[in-house]
Parts: sequence; C-alpha cells; structure tokens
Amino acid sequence: MLKITNLIAALFISAAVASAAPSNPCEGLLPKPSSVVVEKGSYNVPAMPLTIRISGPEADALSALAESYGFKPVARGKADVTVSYGTSATAEGYTLKVTKRAIEIKAEGAPGAFYGLQSLRQMLDAGMPQWNCLTLTDSPRFPYRGLMVDVSRHFRTIPFLKKQIDAMARLKMNNMHLHLTDAAGWRMPVESYPKLNSQAAWRPQVKWSDWVAAGTPYAEEGQPGAYGGYYTKDELRGLVKYAADRHIRIIPEIEMPGHSEEVVAAYPEVSCSGQGGDLCPGKEATFAMLEAVLDEVIDIFPSELIHIGGDEASKGAWHNCPDCKRRMEQQGLADVDELQSYLIKRIEQYVNSKGRRIIGWDEIIDGGIAPDATIMSWRGTEGGNRAMTEGHDVIMTPVGYCYIDYCQDAPFREPVSIGGYTPLRLVYSFEPADTALSAEALNHLLGVQANLWAEQITTDSHAEYMYYPRTYAIAEIGWSAAQKDYDDFHRRALMFNHLLDSLGYAVFDLDNEYGERRESLTPVRHLALGAPVTYTTPYHEKYPAQGPSTLTDGLLGGWSYGDKRWQGWLTDVDLTVDLGREQPIHTATASFMHSPGAWVHLPQSVIFEVSSDGVNFTPVGQAWCDVADDYQSITMKPYTAAFNATGRYLRLRAERNPRPGAWLFLDEIIVN
Ligand code: ACM
Ligand code: ZN
Repeated sequence: MLKITNLIAALFISAAVASAAPSNPCEGLLPKPSSVVVEKGSYNVPAMPLTIRISGPEADALSALAESYGFKPVARGKADVTVSYGTSATAEGYTLKVTKRAIEIKAEGAPGAFYGLQSLRQMLDAGMPQWNCLTLTDSPRFPYRGLMVDVSRHFRTIPFLKKQIDAMARLKMNNMHLHLTDAAGWRMPVESYPKLNSQAAWRPQVKWSDWVAAGTPYAEEGQPGAYGGYYTKDELRGLVKYAADRHIRIIPEIEMPGHSEEVVAAYPEVSCSGQGGDLCPGKEATFAMLEAVLDEVIDIFPSELIHIGGDEASKGAWHNCPDCKRRMEQQGLADVDELQSYLIKRIEQYVNSKGRRIIGWDEIIDGGIAPDATIMSWRGTEGGNRAMTEGHDVIMTPVGYCYIDYCQDAPFREPVSIGGYTPLRLVYSFEPADTALSAEALNHLLGVQANLWAEQITTDSHAEYMYYPRTYAIAEIGWSAAQKDYDDFHRRALMFNHLLDSLGYAVFDLDNEYGERRESLTPVRHLALGAPVTYTTPYHEKYPAQGPSTLTDGLLGGWSYGDKRWQGWLTDVDLTVDLGREQPIHTATASFMHSPGAWVHLPQSVIFEVSSDGVNFTPVGQAWCDVADDYQSITMKPYTAAFNATGRYLRLRAERNPRPGAWLFLDEIIVN
C-alpha cells in the first residue's frame, strides 16, 4: 500500500515537473558569465547527490572537493555530470553544456574546470527542478580578483580565513591578500626575530579606540589579558594548501618601511631613534631584519608576488637621522621619497634573488619605482595608470570604490566604522580600465581587489557583514564583461546573499537597505539659491566639492564627505553669502557633519550675522554643538538661527573643534 501511494505521488510530481516550463538556471549566476545560449529541450535535475566523473590532471583532488560540495564522484561509467580538462595550469575558462540527459563541463585546465563546477553549484542552489538545455561559455575579464583581509588590526583565525576562501571560490575570486603586519599586531611567525611574536603580536586592549586612547601599548605573550596572536608556520602552510586547492593564491604582506610601530617597539634598533612607526633605511640592521623575515615568508608562501607594503611612511624621522642622512649622501638621493625608493629597490633585488617579485601600494612609485614592481593602486587610479604606462603590472583598489571598511548603508544603521559611504551600488560602478590608456598599457591591468581594513572590526561577524555583499561587486568587476546593469546585478546579489546567509555568513541585510541620505535626494529651494559666496577662510584644496557654488546650489550632501557636495576645512570657517539685494531674512541654517572615525567634527558654535553694506555686520543668532566629540555615529547637525532682520549679506562664522587634525564639513547654507 505504501509503495503504491509512493508511486502515485512520484507520478504526480513528475507530471507536475513535466508540465512546468523549464527555466534557465544561469540567470542567477554571480559573477555574470560571458555567454549562455539556451537550446531546445529540457533537463530534469536529479536530486542530490548528482554523480560526477572527473578526468584531468590530479582529478582526485577535484573529485574530493566535488564530494565536499555534495556530489557523488564515480570513477567510470555513466554520470549525471562529467568534467574533463587539459593540462593548462592557468586557463580559467570553461564550457558547461546541459543536454537532455547530462551535464558536461570542459576546460583547458584545472582552474577552468573548478570554475565550471562553481557555476554548476550556483545553478543547483537556485533549486529549479527542470532546466533548459543550454551551452554556457565563460572566462574572466581579468586574471586577478582579490580580497584583502587585515589580520593585523584584529587577529582572525584560520577557520575564519578558510570560510572566506570558500565564499571567494564560489565567486571565482583567486587572490587573498593577507595584511599580516601593522602597528596593531604582527601575525607572521618569525623564528629569526622572536620578539615579533612574543611582543609585537599582543596588546592589552581589544577595542581599537581603547588601544589608541591608551597610547598604543604592546603586551607580552601570555600576560593576563594580552589580546592578539600570530599564526604557526604549519597553520599558514595549511591555509596556503586549502586556498590553492580552490585556485586561490595567498599573497602575504609584510609592511615596510611605514606602519611598523610594532616592529620598532620590539626592535628599536631598526628605527632612526627608537620611536615612531617608520623603519630606518639608513641602518644595515633594518635590511638584515627585513631579509631574514622575507626568507621565512618566502619559505611558507609559494606566491610569486610578495607584498612589501610601502604605504604611508611618515618619513619624518629620516630628515634628522644621521644614518639616513649618510645613506642619502652616499647614494646621491635627493629627498626622503628617494630614500624610501632606495629601500624598496634594494628589497626588490633581494626578493628577485629568491625567484619572487614584489608588489606594493602605490606610494612605492614616489621617488622612483622599483624596476619589476607590481603596483596596488589605492590612492585613486592615477598611480596605477601611470605605472601601467611605464610597463608595470597593476591591481586597482582605489579607496573611493574598493575600501569596504567604509559604511555600506545609512550610518545611523551601521556598526562603528571609519565613516564614509560606499554602498554596493558605488562599488559596482567602478570601472578599472581607463579608456584613455593604450591597449599596451591596459595589458598590465591585472584586475581588482576589495580591501577591508579592520581597525573597527573586532568580530568575525562584523567582518563578514562588511565583506558581503560588496565583495560580490568586486568579483563581478573582475570576472564579467565591462557592461553594467545594476538592477540585474542587485537581483543576483540578493540571491547570493540569501545563499551565504543560509550557509552561516553574517551578511549585510541587502533586502532592507536604507540607502543614501534622504535629504540629499531632493534639491532645497531657499533665498540664497545661486548666491555668490565670498570666503574669508578658503576651503581645503582636497575638499572643494563644486567650488564656490557648492554652498548655495540647493544640494545637500549625502552620507559621505567625499561625495563632492561637502566642502571641507581644517580651519575655522568665515564666509559671506551675497543675496543680491536688501530683503527680510528670518532663518539661516548650516548643516555640518560629525564623523569622528574620519576626524570630521562639528564646529563648537556657529554665529550668523547680517549686513546691508557687506562691511558692518550685526549678529542675529548663534547655535552650539550638542553632540559629544566621541559620539561614534555619523551625524549631520543643522545649526539654525531664527531672527527678524533685513539685509543683503549673511555672514557665517563656525568655530572649529580644537582637536588636532579635526575637519569641518559643510554642505549648504539655507536662508529663508
Ligand atoms: C592604505 O590604505 N594605506 C594602503
Ligand atoms: Zn634613519
């Protein structure tokens, strides 16, 4: 009886399946594939586990992975899925054919076969019972699709890194850049300089802001409360293997000569004066240490590219250090930029002598680029473009698009972050190839990378929240054709986000994105619209927004002070709006931004004054700051004065927060 019932149920289900229209299972693929041709006929998708037969070099490894993905490998005979590939170690393209009876993946090499399998997983994850027959042909636009994990600011465990490697594999990303060293903690195991592990890897405070407030002290390994850690060599070798099995290369980064406070604290002899965060390029001890460390790095990481940092060295101490001065004199170096370049070039020679190549942040262009260096362009794309023109390979990771430590949604809904506003749409809009460059130069564009700097990111779940979904955009920019359709991408990003959510990743809730600051979406009409502004205190050259028209263009700023609607000052603000003719004025409002993670602070107070002749001004109102300096959330505060006056000129004086380096940002002066 039971059997008959089951049979009837089975017939009923298969009739239902047969009557439903087959679907194109590639519609949800992320990154978007090169081409999908739907063909006649349909394929009934069997229940998992699908059998899979894999043939190609080292097929056992791919079979083992396929098994971990829920397929059932078979050595011979019929299978639901056949995968065959050739001997190329680098070819990433593949074809995937769905016929009435089977699925067939073919590739020139193991990477392509692996990516074909990833596409098939996504097709199956969509859960459609019946597929169109089709031919999917796919290959990446760029050979480098990267994700940077900052394990220095907060140590992250190997299982966490493997989990992110799994997500990267699904997204066909192929480089994980590990930021292993920085002031907040040294994570690379080093036998030759043991204090890098016993001291430089630990600090007493967990939270970044607490650590900074305490003066960035270090701790001893094993000391009660010591926070941090470092990897063992075996752990890193295991990670490299885990990643390589998934066609992901781990690129280790050892920072030099800047961002090295932890090194200086443990070994002051490699600095100019025992303080600060720059290594001393004048001392041979510095090179002895760097070479010994790099020996150990090269021993663990097979990556041809070894990242040597190179960013944001202050170079301040070098001016007065006798060793640095001697080095500059002996080498005929004109300035400290050339002194940094001396260090980088010398390190490049060392790394080259070991059969490897250096990659560095785009500051290594300043003072003369090392002959064989690959550039990671972060301060924008200009450095990368210049490097490509000079024949250097480049990875684009400009701060305005690829820095996913910035907020991805309305700051009042976001965890503490460095500030800014880099939503998914903005990341997705990035186009790495500047068409003004020659084809020859663009041949050097290796690809793109997302960077998650982790100062504020204490927990694994916070890190995942920042990575996903924005990493999907980087994966798609790196893999798919340049044409963009955000709505279609967003639809697929939602699907993939739901998938990662179901797999236990703490993704951002893209379904409920709030989006841009609402006030910035509709222009404001007011009396001063189009009125000329005279600046007694000029705005900072880095943040001119739209120049003198900015404050009376009717456009309020968005969540980011970098959106070219916010004008910036490092001084008090004193400016005058000319309304063109004498008239009654009743209110004046100026909104400033508070974003302490980015050193953006509200003015202490704002004074408004009115004048008929532009010479003699009468104060009409004053508004004060009522937000605490260290209030962590990004806030826009309107400073408003209500009054009854008649005049032609409105003067605004804003008193800057006295904190050193505090910025003032203002978007509009609304007069009514
Ligand atoms: C960087 O953001 N300093 C590379
Ligand atoms: Zn020095």
